Amino acid sequence: MNNLSKLTQKTVLKDLNQEDFDCYLLKTVDSTNNFAKQAELTKPFLLVLSEQQTAGKGRQGKSWYSPDAGNIYMSLKFKLNRDINNPLSLIIGLLISKSIEKLSKNTIQPKLKWPNDLVLNNKKICGILIESEVIENEIEYIIGIGINYALPKKESWWGELGELESILPRDKLINMILKKISQYINHDESDWVSDWEERCIHMNQEIQILTNTNQEQSGVFVGIDDQGCMKIELATGLKLINSGECSIKGLY
Ligand code: BTN
Repeated sequence: MNNLSKLTQKTVLKDLNQEDFDCYLLKTVDSTNNFAKQAELTKPFLLVLSEQQTAGKGRQGKSWYSPDAGNIYMSLKFKLNRDINNPLSLIIGLLISKSIEKLSKNTIQPKLKWPNDLVLNNKKICGILIESEVIENEIEYIIGIGINYALPKKESWWGELGELESILPRDKLINMILKKISQYINHDESDWVSDWEERCIHMNQEIQILTNTNQEQSGVFVGIDDQGCMKIELATGLKLINSGECSIKGLY
């Protein structure tokens, strides 16, 4: 752990109802999502934060580099007796963007890359992995969030918040994200599509996609529908594609 702000239960849960959270602050763990999955949910929320992950998980079976360097590795588990109407993974990306905007008084405005990467200065600073399971009549969600502040080694497309720590201290950012997520769960977010599109880094631009069957196609990204599918104008016409079906190539 370096000199970045130390996480405490008091700071990350500030102004939230502390009774509603079971909070685990770990030094190291394989994956905060795995830990959350195994831990029993006895309160409305279970929050897991770790300084390091030895087997951090990314989307599409990839790993998530998780050194002990002052980054955020967090998972939030909760159950709902209804399916959330909106596509949670895009909404969470939007809520994290809004958290960064609010905490920085709009001086930092991350962009969104479909479906849910946060991008700053053309580099990925945050990844989101959502896991869900139906248990009896309820759905249990685990929202895993990784936000980079400092990476001792990195790929060219990985970004860090680094010196922005003074504007975006880790504990305050986690706290803001938790507030936005709990507000969302309680009220839903009806008007989110235009908010998401406004922040999209490749809106109305030509993009290349790679389908799960390894086919490359290009077209103009013209937005998303209310299920979070991308709307892409291909040579063959407008197509709706969900995030399980393809990824966007070569943006970073
Ligand atoms: C992505 O591939 O973009 C998603 C990365 C998600 C990483 C976070 S870090 C905290 C949580 N625990 C994990 O093992 N993964 C998520």
